[in-house]
Order: sequence, then C-alpha cells, then structure tokens
Amino acid sequence: MARQKVVGEGAEPPKKKFTRAKRDATSEPVESAPVLDPSPDTVEDAPLNALRPTSFDDYVGQREVLDSLKIAVQAARSRDEAVDHVLFNGPPGLGKTTLAHIISKEFGSKLTQTSGPTLERPLDMVGLLSNLEKGEVLFIDEIHRIPRAVEEYMYSAMEDFKVDFVTGKGTYSRTLTYRLAQFTLVGATTRAGMLSGPLRDRFGLTYHLDFYSPEELSQVVTRSAGILGVQINQEGSDEIARRSRGTPRIANRLLRRVRDYAQVNADGMITGKIATHALTSEGVDEMGLDRLDRLYLTTLADQYSGGPAGLNAIAATVNEDAQTLEDVVEPFLLKIGLIVRTPAGRKATQAGMDHSGVPSLISPGPQQASLL
Ligand SMILES: Nc1ncnc2c1ncn2[C@@H]1O[C@H](COP(=O)(O)OP(=O)(O)OP(=O)(O)O)[C@@H](O)[C@H]1O
Ligand SMILES: [Mg+2]
Repeated sequence: MARQKVVGEGAEPPKKKFTRAKRDATSEPVESAPVLDPSPDTVEDAPLNALRPTSFDDYVGQREVLDSLKIAVQAARSRDEAVDHVLFNGPPGLGKTTLAHIISKEFGSKLTQTSGPTLERPLDMVGLLSNLEKGEVLFIDEIHRIPRAVEEYMYSAMEDFKVDFVTGKGTYSRTLTYRLAQFTLVGATTRAGMLSGPLRDRFGLTYHLDFYSPEELSQVVTRSAGILGVQINQEGSDEIARRSRGTPRIANRLLRRVRDYAQVNADGMITGKIATHALTSEGVDEMGLDRLDRLYLTTLADQYSGGPAGLNAIAATVNEDAQTLEDVVEPFLLKIGLIVRTPAGRKATQAGMDHSGVPSLISPGPQQASLL
C-alpha cells in the first residue's frame, strides 16, 4: 500500500535474473518490474513492523484460516510443489500482509512484494514472474487494482505457469512463450467484489478475514506489550482491546498511545483506568469508534434522519472520500450493528441512533409495530 516504498522508475532497479526467460523464449529478456521494498518507510512504522507475527504460532486468532493454511503449506512441502495460489480479503489492518509473509516463511521460500496499481504494463508483471523460482511467493497487495491488460497475462501464469506474448502484426506475428517456475501468488484485497471472476477463480485458496474478538485482541495487546517492554495488566489489555474496532493494527496503535499517556501521567504501568482515560482523551469511545466513525454516524442519524442515505451523499456531507468510508468506516459499523445497508441506501439501526445520541425518528417497521 502507500506506506511501502516503491522501487521502480527513477530508482535502482531490482536485481535481474533472466535465465529462465532466456532459456524458454526467443525474444529479448523482459524488463524489470516495480517491486515494493518491505522495509518500513517511516520511523512510526518501524516498531509496528517488529510487532508483526512471523509464524503460524505467533499469529493470534483467525483459527479456521490458519488451520487450513497450515495443511496447505505442509501438503505442498511434502509433495515438493508450490503452495496453491491464495487470496485474502477483508478490511484494512486484519493481517492479510502478515499472513502472506508467514506463508513464505513457513514454506521456507522467498517473498517478492508488489502492489496492483504499480503494475502498469504487462511487461511489469512478466518481469516479476520470470524472476521467481520454484516455490517462491509473489505477494500482490491491492490486487483488485491491477489493470485489466496486465491481469489477462496472469491467467495462464497462474494456471499453466507460462505467459504468451504476441509480437508483430498480421502474417509477421509470432507468439513467444515464457515458461515460469511453479510459484505461489498471494493476493490481498479489501474489495473482493471488484476482482474479476476469471482472476478470482484461479485462486485455489480464498479466505475472508473477519474482525477479531475482544479476547483475541487482548492477546494481541499483551503480546505487543511484551515485545515493546511495556508493563500492562489484564484490565489494561482488555480495555485497549475493547476499543480497537476488532483490528490488530488499531490495537497496536492504541497501545502505543496509552503507553505514552501512562509514562507521562502515571508510573508507566497500563491499568484499565489509565487505558480508559488515555483512549477517551484520544477521542476513542467505549465502543472503539473514532472521530470519523462518529461523524459518519451522527451525520446519518442527524442530517439524514437515520437514512436511508446514499454513500456519496454521506461522503459529500462529511467531506471524506466515499471509498474510504466504504472500506474503513462502514465494515465495522455494519459488524457491530450500528448501521445496515439497504437497496435504498445506508440506514442507522436503533442501536446506531442511540449511540449517536440523536433521538430516533425512524418509524417502527411492521414487525416492530406488531410487537408494541
Ligand atoms: N493475527 C495477528 N496477531 C497479531 N498481530 C497482528 C495480527 N494480524 C495483524 N497484526 C498486526 O497488525 C498489523 C497490521 O496487519 P497487516 O499489515 O497484515 O494488515 P493488512 O490486512 O495487510 O492491512 P491492509 O489492508 O491495510 O494492508 C501488523 O503489523 C501486525 O503487527
Ligand atoms: Mg496489507
């Protein structure tokens, strides 16, 4: 994603290895392609990278996903084959990138990381693919943003481990075939619905990552506190977990904010009370909603009388990008039942109206009316 440093145009190109392409094709070797440097971009990211679990055992939660992945990795290893292609989808910060790295570590192979929007031309993709060796992992973040022309080359690459290039026109046209090593494509997306059918169908393993339970997040907080050398008790971990929107990335971020607060206002030890004070002063409420979540909710509740309201209308009112609202804000509000999506638009539920503090103007539905 944008946090990563792109090594591409204007920078030192990635090391080229064209042996396979040269052996199997009759054309010139393909050009280098944009590869993301997984090293952290900012100082703020650096400690967060240290918190990233690096093995199946370190990874908290998502039990079903992990159990299935463990089998896939072990089976592939015993057959001496690459792991089947894997697609992860789910809201930001739930561990998609982390799992891609864990797959390559557990399988014992190298990972090359790139991102959909940086693969502008088919040659970018072919350059990356031809550099992969057997069993290596190609991780494509934001895979739904790969241009269609590039995506078409991925079909045969994923299915038959080859890419066909047509050069020249009419009677002079020739098809050049590059044979590829058996690799594993790991794709991550926050919007599975935007992936084309043919691409989605070529993933042997598809997983949806759901929000974490407060208990799981409490484990994430305790683990991260241990790595950062922060003193925290169970109530402290639980309080941070409860306010982390079901998201490990947010749990880690809030832990660092509360750590600062505890250092300045107390003896450094994070207790439930310290966490409550710190997070309230950070603008995170007891359900974990932050400023933008609450703005969305109160706008829907107040200005649109609880809805239904279209996403674009809400986005214009809160002066925020519609895609950000759809990818970042709405999934959690839907998950905890504060809003619903209807064919006519977004609606605040009774719980959503209550949480926004705006008296409900929604007339009871026929079912509710009959109960009254
Ligand atoms: N299961 C987990 N256990 C412990 N920590 C986790 C777990 N999943 C994620 N994290 C932490 O949360 C951070 C964010 O995870 P990650 O970058 O993998 O999310 P993502 O799904 O790729 O997000 P995005 O969609 O924004 O790219 C990681 O740096 C890691 O520290
Ligand atoms: Mg990611």
